[in-house]
Amino acid sequence: MLLTPGPVAVPQAIRDAEGKEMIYHRGSEMKELMKDVATKLKADFASDNFFVVTGSGTAGIEMCVANCVKPEEKILVLSNGTFGDKLASCADIYGSVQKVSQPLGKGWNLERAKEAIDNSGATVLAMVYNETSTGVLNDAKGICKYAKSKGMLTIVDAVSAWAAAPLNCRDFGIDAVATGSQKAIGCPPGLSFVGMSSEAISKAEAGKPRSFYFDVRKYKKEMETFQTPTTPAVSLLYAVQAALELIERKGGLDAHRKRHLEGAAYSREFVKSLGKEVFSENGFYSPTITGFILENADDIRKRLKDKYGLVTARDFGELKGRFFRVCHIGHFTKEELDIAFGYIREVLQK
Ligand SMILES: Cc1ncc(COP(=O)(O)O)c(C=O)c1O
Repeated sequence: MLLTPGPVAVPQAIRDAEGKEMIYHRGSEMKELMKDVATKLKADFASDNFFVVTGSGTAGIEMCVANCVKPEEKILVLSNGTFGDKLASCADIYGSVQKVSQPLGKGWNLERAKEAIDNSGATVLAMVYNETSTGVLNDAKGICKYAKSKGMLTIVDAVSAWAAAPLNCRDFGIDAVATGSQKAIGCPPGLSFVGMSSEAISKAEAGKPRSFYFDVRKYKKEMETFQTPTTPAVSLLYAVQAALELIERKGGLDAHRKRHLEGAAYSREFVKSLGKEVFSENGFYSPTITGFILENADDIRKRLKDKYGLVTARDFGELKGRFFRVCHIGHFTKEELDIAFGYIREVLQK
């Protein structure tokens, strides 16, 4: 049993779809499949352009950065955890990064970001929407809208946020966003979905490509006929199609997001019932991850795995060995959370 932030448990219908017979990636069946998936996802992203990239979430993030950043260009990266730091490391390869950080558990909102946006001199802003390492949902909308009003291009890592937290690129002022198939949509890992504004594409088109694999010009041209520049992970596209059908049968993506919010609220109550404090500050609760300080976390994780087969996620950096994440992401049910919570209670004797 997985209580992890991704890969998450994959329902049987999705696994069956992934096992379908192979098709030719330049044939009509492939175009139908891509058209179906990309049209639905683009509508949900509300982005001017939408691309499917074969690679993990990081591939999508790198595609956003490689196309939106010019050599030597200054990028303001707002970080509050491991994935914010990784975003800064990626951006640093393509431009010149100024990273500003919040203490772990604290969220980014416009009030806290304004000064850096106003004074950094950066022309690109990059941030993580949902910081998976700590379970903090940053105010991507408030921050990106403001950064755009100041003429910046905005890049958002929505890897563990999309399909669980609201996302509307046009309304949020997001120029480039990426997510991964193994997160809230509940598919196996291996695909990244990327949304880009016309402005982001124009910027990329105005310069020399900075990556061969991630050159958005090629993706844009191929997407006109629902294809990709290179061979896509065809089986995963079948899985995504099945996931979207499953989500649709259960009320659609908005209902899927609502279920995440309910799972998050339920998990916060569970954490409090253990006598622990939710790590994320109030107002920045993640819809997918609820963390708390747990001093002997490695031992607890081992006992949960050995005794109950419950796999939980490791912790990172400053919090190494003393942080526990309850993950409510993907196609989980309340009954499954109850089973996992029961095991955690037994191991903690609470
Ligand atoms: C917020 C965030 N960004 C980036 C990543 C990296 O994604 P991947 O491992 O699919 O490359 C993850 C993975 O957990 C994540 O949660």
